[in-house]
Amino acid sequence: MVYYNQGMNTKIYKINYDNRDAFGIASDSEEYMKEAGELIADGELVAFPTETVYGLGGDALHPEAAKKIYAAKGRPSDNPLIIHIAEISDLERVAREVPPQARLLAEAFWPGPLTMVVWKKDEVPYATTGGLETVAVRMPNHPVALELIRKSGKLIAAPSANTSGRPSPTEAAHVAEDLSGRIAMILDGGSVGIGIESTIIDLTEQTPMVLRPGYITPQMLSEVLGEEVIIDPGILATDDTTKPKAPGMKYKHYAPKADMVIVDGEKSVVIEEINRLTTEAQAAGRKVAVIATEETRESYCADIVLSMGKREDEDSIAQHMYKILRDCDDLDVQEIYSESFQTPRIGQAIMNRLLKAAGHQVIHV
Ligand code: TXA
Ligand code: MG
Repeated sequence: MVYYNQGMNTKIYKINYDNRDAFGIASDSEEYMKEAGELIADGELVAFPTETVYGLGGDALHPEAAKKIYAAKGRPSDNPLIIHIAEISDLERVAREVPPQARLLAEAFWPGPLTMVVWKKDEVPYATTGGLETVAVRMPNHPVALELIRKSGKLIAAPSANTSGRPSPTEAAHVAEDLSGRIAMILDGGSVGIGIESTIIDLTEQTPMVLRPGYITPQMLSEVLGEEVIIDPGILATDDTTKPKAPGMKYKHYAPKADMVIVDGEKSVVIEEINRLTTEAQAAGRKVAVIATEETRESYCADIVLSMGKREDEDSIAQHMYKILRDCDDLDVQEIYSESFQTPRIGQAIMNRLLKAAGHQVIHV
């Protein structure tokens, strides 16, 4: 693997924008956006905010840019990138043919946290698709992301802007932590709105299949399509027998340095069990963090208690999750005990990430 020059001077620009308007970049930030667009057009890398997580962008149709992305992230090059577009019609520039389902879903959810996998056109390099004949495409719902694509005059390939194996970045400081010195620029658009990566739906299968759960649920997709949507059996499996179809879903992701265990069950029993485990670990000289909610945070005896927000506020839980996992690393704890978050709407997406972070260690009480 080629290692990207780590001594690079990474520029970090704060971008002011109007959240209600896809063209709403403030005039004092226009210059920065222009410079960022030129960097992408020159084959350089720029990290930028989207509504889900920060992305690490490069020219999607330029194989060298894709190689730089893999090198900067330390990511295996068989793990394909998502192409970000600024107009629905740009789907035609990368898709061999646009399936009718893609049109329906784009109308309903773009710009937004939905990625569609379709058969690729020859123009899309294998460096971007990790050697696959299919390509993942999404139109993000963030004025900075959309303006960067427009200013560059390119389509932008972007994975999450973290070092491979670390939690996805939900603020510019996380990107700087992981990628400073390795990329040309970071556009700081503040904290992201959603906090977990887009839902991925594969439209090249007989039946549309969710490869990665996210904010847009299988029910929402199925309602728009008027047909059944299945979930990749590989992401539900807790053992290694069934492999997920999205290459990125097979890697052990988001793992904090500490050993992490999820405790699942009725509230009072969970609190009791986590406190028992905490006391035991502390007696062995280990520092403990607990991942809790506003309702339960006062009930724990751990060294550090981190709150994901109110339990009924699923959006808040999703927004806080990755930052909390990063905090656990910074706080140098050795054990993490977490409550379970099987919430009604996006619980599946949240638990998919949390279970990976915990290496599927769950205690049911
Ligand atoms: O919300 C998001 O999707 C963020 C923001 C930056 O847009 N991006 C993101 O990218 O999460 P990344 O690279 O971290 O995750 C992309 C996932 C990986 O699991 C990858 O394997 C899968 O998408 N993927 C990409 N192209 C694919 C394809 N052609 N077939 C199946 N899976 C694909
Ligand atoms: Mg990622």
